[in-house]
Amino acid sequence: MEMNIALLPGDGIGPEVIDQAVKVVKAVGKKFGHEFTFNEAVVGATAIDKTGDPYPDATHEICMKSDAVLFGAIGDPKYDNDPKAKVRPEQGLLKMRKNLGLFSNVRPTFTFNSLIHKSPLKKERIEGTDLVFLRELTSGIYFGEPRGRSEQGDKAFDTNIYTKEEISRLARMGFEFAQKRRKLLTCVDKANVLATSRLWRETVQELEPEYPDVKVEYEFVDAVAMRLIQWPKAYDVLITENLFGDILTDEASVISGSMGLMPSASLGTHVKLFEPIHGSYPQAAGKNIANPLATVLSAAMMFEYAFNLPEEAKAISDVVNLSLEKGIVTEDIAEGEKSYSTSEVGDWLAEQISK
Ligand code: IPM
Ligand code: MN
Repeated sequence: MEMNIALLPGDGIGPEVIDQAVKVVKAVGKKFGHEFTFNEAVVGATAIDKTGDPYPDATHEICMKSDAVLFGAIGDPKYDNDPKAKVRPEQGLLKMRKNLGLFSNVRPTFTFNSLIHKSPLKKERIEGTDLVFLRELTSGIYFGEPRGRSEQGDKAFDTNIYTKEEISRLARMGFEFAQKRRKLLTCVDKANVLATSRLWRETVQELEPEYPDVKVEYEFVDAVAMRLIQWPKAYDVLITENLFGDILTDEASVISGSMGLMPSASLGTHVKLFEPIHGSYPQAAGKNIANPLATVLSAAMMFEYAFNLPEEAKAISDVVNLSLEKGIVTEDIAEGEKSYSTSEVGDWLAEQISK
């Protein structure tokens, strides 16, 4: 197969971790006989510096022409500390999600046998966790209007809006994921307080008869926040709105031991996008110390979801597991034991795949 991949390294450690994923993708191509063309484009603070726009039209065009987008990270502290900054790197991420129609952010949570002892959670509670969040990504309070400040500046407001259509397309994807897994779907909401959440519940309830093989549970977000770390094995597929999903998936990353390990896929109406769930980690930028595994595992998800090549995806996750077992890891995982640089880990993974 021949595939076009858009590379959007972004800010901070983004370029370094994307470099490692590219090495691994190339090694997979060589082994399994696929050709890749990589087209690089700017996004985030890097794009603001170059063009004034955190998601320029040229970048959008490259993404739309590609078979998949591999994305690094976005964010730069020089904008975080300036609340009056007119353009912010994060706006680029939101514009990209919206314009590419990426309404569903798929964030799996699983454990790695070789890391279980490092989790702050008890082994027997987390071992064997295998759940996936489908976080709604292009609506809700992240996008609702009106938003802003009163004229005097002493009042601020955001608006949470969901349409039935936005809920049902995500929910349908949730039902389909559940059908291919353990057939349990949890709708996470705050229907005891929020009107939007009541619409979520109503919409999911209406869809239930179309998927009789899937068991559906409705749970309030605060209760999920607790049960998720108490007994994560209670869950299979979870669907939820944008903001709840943002918060709960950071929490879920504790189960697997590190944010540096968790990949994601964003699916929707056009091209599919793959990115680690961690941020741009500016303190580590350029130091060759960042953990590339979340990005490498995002590339594995790309083979599975964008190219429908599960064997290639497994080849990647297998070598990632091997690197964890053998301790070929960056300092965040090594915790005082011998550690390797970002590029050394990438080289090792690519070499193992080529074997
Ligand atoms: C994420 C991030 C983003 C979000 C930020 C950087 C805007 O936290 O992808 O989870 O909130 O969606
Ligand atoms: Mn987040």
